[in-house]
Order: sequence, then structure tokens, then C-alpha cells
Amino acid sequence: MTLPLPADSSFQFTPDLRLCRLLNGMWQVSGAHGRIAPETAIENMMAYHQAGFTTWDLADHYGPAEDFIGAFRQRLAQTRGEAELANVQAFTKWVPQPGAMTRQIVENNMAISHRRMGMDRLDLLQFHWWDYTDSRYLDALTHLAALRDEGTIRHLALTNFDTEHLQRIVDHGIRVVSNQVQYSLIDRRPEVDMVPFCQAHNMWLFTYGTLAGGLLSETYLGQPEPRGSALNTASLRKYKQMVDAWGGWALFQELLQALKQIADKHGVSLANVAVRSILERPAVAGVIVGVRLGVTDHRDDNARVFAMALDAEDHVCLQTVLDKSRDLYRLIGDCGDEYRR
Ligand SMILES: NC(=O)c1ccc[n+]([C@@H]2O[C@H](COP(=O)([O-])OP(=O)(O)OC[C@H]3O[C@@H](n4cnc5c(N)ncnc54)[C@H](OP(=O)(O)O)[C@@H]3O)[C@@H](O)[C@H]2O)c1
Repeated sequence: MTLPLPADSSFQFTPDLRLCRLLNGMWQVSGAHGRIAPETAIENMMAYHQAGFTTWDLADHYGPAEDFIGAFRQRLAQTRGEAELANVQAFTKWVPQPGAMTRQIVENNMAISHRRMGMDRLDLLQFHWWDYTDSRYLDALTHLAALRDEGTIRHLALTNFDTEHLQRIVDHGIRVVSNQVQYSLIDRRPEVDMVPFCQAHNMWLFTYGTLAGGLLSETYLGQPEPRGSALNTASLRKYKQMVDAWGGWALFQELLQALKQIADKHGVSLANVAVRSILERPAVAGVIVGVRLGVTDHRDDNARVFAMALDAEDHVCLQTVLDKSRDLYRLIGDCGDEYRR
């Protein structure tokens, strides 16, 4: 049985919202990471919640993710009472195709998420935009901010925005609390512009890809380079490309060895060190770890992220390897640029 998470696993994100700093990522229920059985998934969500993993990251386009939140909340209310719903945080996204962004269009799309998730008020709405040449993202955000002010969205946030466009949004007078970006020991692009911007503007980051889809774990230590069908989730395929751009499999093995050495010293797992190394960085509110509900379960291991802290020697050990890698900011650009090439 999972032990309760320690107090420092939670974080006062906004005055009215406390969250678990390890968020449960639901892209993994979309169908691109293996088949998920709905009933087992809901049971599993109850177990995550019970163990203190109370914060969920999802999106309108992650298959049944929003419906799972709806079913999970219903089950929770039935078994633990309506009051327990206040202890769940469900952060969804809206990822529209660029086009006209009228108040009606925005409202209609939000209504779908409200209905699927069974929530009159969305905790956090993270907005994504595919095309910066179409400035109607500012229209969408203006309407979303109005909905927030009217109370149907608690907090407005972004995902995969670069620093330049974050600045434009701020200049437009739109208040956002966070940006969700790829951030890991492999992909440290946020450190160039994004983290300083967030620090200066009192914004937070939620990070994904922090475990590189599971590549940053003991499973791949000392293993030959996985290719083709061995990369059996969309996540593994996505981040293997990042590893290739970053420096390739031989250097990646050096990083895994360094992580293993640190992990052994602290009596934790290699994955714990990979997560902890990002969780401790400035401006990071939480790390999202993908959960393949009912397929694999790393809950007990991930709880140990809160039982350790990296010391100066650990940072030097990691930096020695990172110094040999390519600069992904120069290769790809700022946060989210990989979605807009
Ligand atoms: N905004 C965006 O554009 C965007 C993009 C991608 C992801 N996301 C969000 O981020 C979430 C995370 O997804 P991701 O694709 O970045 O994957 P990830 O979190 O880097 O990797 C998840 C995988 O890591 C493995 N894992 C987890 N804990 C482990 C542990 N303690 N030891 C060993 N392996 C462990 C599991 O693999 P196995 O199941 O194979 O064991 C799990 O499926 C998504 O669900 C989504 O919410 C957002």
C-alpha cells in the first residue's frame, strides 16, 4: 500500500488552489500508449487520489481523459461524499484549430469540457495555439479571461507558448498563471528565456517529458538503442527524437549512469533523480508524470521523489554530462517551437 505523501509534496499554486507537485498526466489514456480499460482506469484514479496524487493534467483531445475525470469525480462523490471533490484538481487544455475566435465559439468549446468533466467551474484551463502568424489567439484568450472573471474558469493558463508570445499576451493585459512546457535533463530550453520570464512575472511552469516517456529510468540503463516497435508508446517515440537531437544514445547512457550513481547514493530510483532535478528548478510548480492507468503503476516509486534532495556534488555529476550535449535551444528554438515548424 502506498504511504501518504509528505506535506512538501503539495504546493499552494494560487491562493485558492493547492496541488500535488507530481501531476498525473493523462495523455497516456488517449490510445497512443496502449489500450486502457475504462473501469480499471477509474478504479486506478481512485487509488492515485487516495495516495495523495490529487492533481490531473489532461486535454480536450486526449481521447476519453475529460470523460474519465467526470466518471472519477462521480465515483469519488458517491464513495467519499461531495466534499471530497474539493480535494481534486483537474487541469484541462483547449487546443483549437486556428480560426475565428468569437465569444460564442469559445463558450461552446468550454461548455464541452464542463459537461464531460462534470464541473461548473474548470480549475485551470491551459490554452494552446498552433500558428503565431494568426493573432486570433489574443481574441480567444480575451474571451477566456472574461469567462474566468465571470467564474466558470478558476484560472487561465497556457501550454507550449514561447517567451516572445507570452510577453505579447502580458502586454495585451491578459493575466495567466502558468505555462506548460517540455522540460527535462535532455530538454533544458526553458532555462534560456522562459524561466527568467516566469520569475519576473510571477508565473509558474508545469513540465512534461521530464521522464522522456520512461527513457529516463533504469529500464534503459545499459540497454542497446531502442528502435522501431521497441518504442511502443507515442511518448517514447517523441522523446527518443529529442535524445537523438540532444546527443545520441551513447551520451544518453552516460547520463543514465550519472543518474544511477546519484540514485544509489540517495537510496532512490534513477527516475526519482530525473524528476527531482527538474522539480527543484526555479519557477517549476509541478512535474507531470504520464500515467498508463491499469497498464503500469509507478506510484510507490514516484512518491520517493519527495524523500530526497540533490546536493552540490550531484549537480556537478549531472552537469559534467550535460556539458557534452548539443544546445536544443539553438537547434529547435524556444519552448513549443517544435510544434510550429
Ligand atoms: N502540453 C503538451 O504539449 C504535452 C505534451 C506531452 C505531454 N503532456 C502532458 O505530460 C504528461 C506526461 O507525458 P509524457 O509523454 O511527457 O511522458 P513522461 O511523463 O515523460 O513519461 C511517462 C512514462 O514514464 C514511465 N515512468 C513513470 N514513472 C516511472 C518510474 N518511477 N520509473 C520508471 N518509469 C516511470 C512510465 O512508462 P511505462 O508506462 O512504460 O512504465 C510512464 O508511462 C502527459 O500525460 C500530458 O498530461 C503535455
